[in-house]
Formats: sequence, structure tokens, C-alpha cells
Amino acid sequence: MKNKRQLKIGVIVDGVGWSYNAWRHPNMPANASESVDFYVKKAKRAEEGKFDMVFLADVSHIGPGNIPHYLSMFEGVTILSALSMATSHIGLAATIATSYADPFTVARQMASLDKISNGRAAWNAITSNPGGLANYSRRHLSKDDLYPLNKEFIEIVEGLWDSYEDDAFIRDKKSGIFLNSRKMHSLNYRGEYFSVDGPLNISRSSQGRPVIFQAGTSEMFMKIASKHAEGILVNGDDYNYARQFSEEFRKRVILAGRDPEDLLIMPTQHVIVGRTETEAEEKFQELISLSPPGYHIRKPQFFGSAETVADMIEHWYQTGAMDLLLLRQEHPSGIDDFIDLVVPVLQEKGIFRREYESQTLRGNLGLPYPQNRYTQVQ
Ligand SMILES: Cc1cc2nc3c(=O)[nH]c(=O)nc-3n(C[C@H](O)[C@H](O)[C@H](O)COP(=O)(O)O)c2cc1C
Repeated sequence: MKNKRQLKIGVIVDGVGWSYNAWRHPNMPANASESVDFYVKKAKRAEEGKFDMVFLADVSHIGPGNIPHYLSMFEGVTILSALSMATSHIGLAATIATSYADPFTVARQMASLDKISNGRAAWNAITSNPGGLANYSRRHLSKDDLYPLNKEFIEIVEGLWDSYEDDAFIRDKKSGIFLNSRKMHSLNYRGEYFSVDGPLNISRSSQGRPVIFQAGTSEMFMKIASKHAEGILVNGDDYNYARQFSEEFRKRVILAGRDPEDLLIMPTQHVIVGRTETEAEEKFQELISLSPPGYHIRKPQFFGSAETVADMIEHWYQTGAMDLLLLRQEHPSGIDDFIDLVVPVLQEKGIFRREYESQTLRGNLGLPYPQNRYTQVQ
């Protein structure tokens, strides 16, 4: 069922926040980035708000100058597996860079998360920056390798996810037939960077396979993502940029032979909202007061009373600059405020759901069920 006529919402849970100083707020647990209780609480709250997904960003190499969250955080698939047991409908999206991991392992991890969560997993298949090559024994590679590597990686993972057709497993105790081996397929992929035979030892989930997201800006990114991505992250700082990027990207998706409706534009937004403009301003001032003198914090553009913020969201959504709002939280009450104050206004406007439409992430996002490449269409 297509339900993309409605806005989608996700939340990036960044532990103590995606900034240097938000962790100092009296209401922010200083260990939030390594607290399973914190993540469970946020995921449950986001599910109460009928959000489409919890999304985790990632980092592949660190130093003392990184934001506190990046210095001490969970690995994505591991924490999302825990969250899958504490939730029932919300999607679970992990960022795993293709520059450092191994495609067979990622295909297996993500397919497992997809089964464990009953069809709620998504993979953000980014390149990340080249710094991580030093952590993953890939110093012989350089920045120029990252997108060619990304292309092969995604092709392999998608191929491995089709290892079994949907009716491959018979599991008939009487006859003793476990598998219809004609419905099991090897991949035998031979690339410049990877060589993978397959098959993968896990079958498809109720949503077929995890949803694929990507994030980037370059020509190489566009070329690959227009073929594979079902959602792309966009820097949400500037409306005109997001809208132009969205238009350009949709054209590429059409050129790649796909329906542009099967692609979600997902700008990231840090939102500060209050019951009134004054209350929003007070929350902003709280964040400023936590920062050292001379440290500049930009006022978020989705800022103000619930009505002001909801109108802005509606504008971005209606004009094609945003299909899915990806919220980031700096202020410790940011997500709660959004759910309590903005979600009811969006529901009243008729652009956001009151109940989940589906049990799977794909179903809620209005994305089509991907047919297994080996299954003959009757
Ligand atoms: C909106 C957005 C989100 C990103 N999120 C991450 C991230 O969570 N972790 C990371 O290592 N890199 C992240 N990146 C960096 C990309 O993976 C990529 O390395 C970078 O954009 C350079 O590629 P490009 O030249 O195609 O833009 C992000 C990039 C964009 C545009």
C-alpha cells in the first residue's frame, strides 16, 4: 500500500547530543551515549509519537577533538537489536560505512536485524570520510576508492539478500525436506575490491530486505544512490538547497529507470519548539549558556511555537524539499517537546499518521516490496 502522501518522521538518537556542550545540560544523563536505558526510553517515546524510525549515525575514527557522543557510543546494529525487543512498530536504521566493513558480514548482520525486528531494519550505506581507512587495515586505499568500493559493496549486499526465494524453505518434518535447493542462489560476484560467492545463510524478512539509505553530495554519490537508495539524507540547513537537491536527485532516479515515488528525501533538522516563541527562545538560551564564551550556536531554522514549526514542516513537505523529517536532538527535551507539541498539529493538518499503517518499516514508509531477483513473475 502506498501511503507516502503523508509526511514521514524519523529521529536520530545521538546519545548526549550532536554538539560539544549539550551533555552539560542538567537534564541530560552524561553517559547517555552508552546507556541502553536511555536508548530504550527514546525509542519507546518515538514509537508513542508514531515516528517511522530511530536512526543512528556513525563515525569510523576518532580523536580527542570529536564531539562527546562520538567518543563513547554504541555500535549501531548491536544497540538496534536491543531496541527491537523493546519496541514493536518503529523502524531501526543503522549507519555502516561501506569503506571499512565487509559486505558478507554486513549483509548477514542487517538481514539478522531485519528478521529479529520482524521487518523493521534499514541500512545507511555511506562511504564516510577516508580517515577510517587507518582503523580497518585499508591504508592502501584512498579517497578515490571509496565510491567504486561503495558500488560493489551495495551490489553484493543486495545480491546476498536474494540468496533464498521467499518459498525456499519447506521445513516439512514428515517428508524430511528442509529446503528446496532450486530456490537457493549463489551470487559469484567478482569485482575490483571484493570477491563473494554466497549464498548468505539467512532468508528474507517480512519486508523482503532492509530498506537502503545513503548520504552524500558528489556526482559519484548521485550515480550510485539513484540506482540503489530508497531514501537519502540531505543537509537540512537551507531550504533552497534541499529543494534543488531533491529535484535533481529525483531526475536521476527517473533516468535510472525507477519510480521517483519510491525515493524519500530526508533532510536532517535540529528542532527547538516551545508552547510559545518565548519558551522556545528560553530553551535556545539554555543551550547557549552551556557553551564556553565565544562559542557560536546557530539558531535552528525549525524554531519557535508548535504552530510556527508545524507550518514550516508543512511547507518543506508540500513543496518537495522533504518526504521524511529526520530530527536531531540537542536539547534534552527536544524529542518530547516535538511529540507533545508538534505531532498533534501535524496530525490535525492531516499530514502525519495517528496510527501505524503497517508492521514493517517498508510498509510504513510506503516503499514497495522488493521482488526477489530470481523469482519468476507469473
Ligand atoms: C546528510 C549527510 C549525512 C552524513 N552522515 C554521515 C555519518 O553519519 N557518518 C559518516 O561517517 N559520514 C557521514 N556523511 C559523510 C558521507 O558518508 C561522505 O563521506 C561525504 O558526504 C563525502 O562524500 P560526497 O563527496 O559524495 O559528499 C554524511 C554526509 C551527508 C551529506
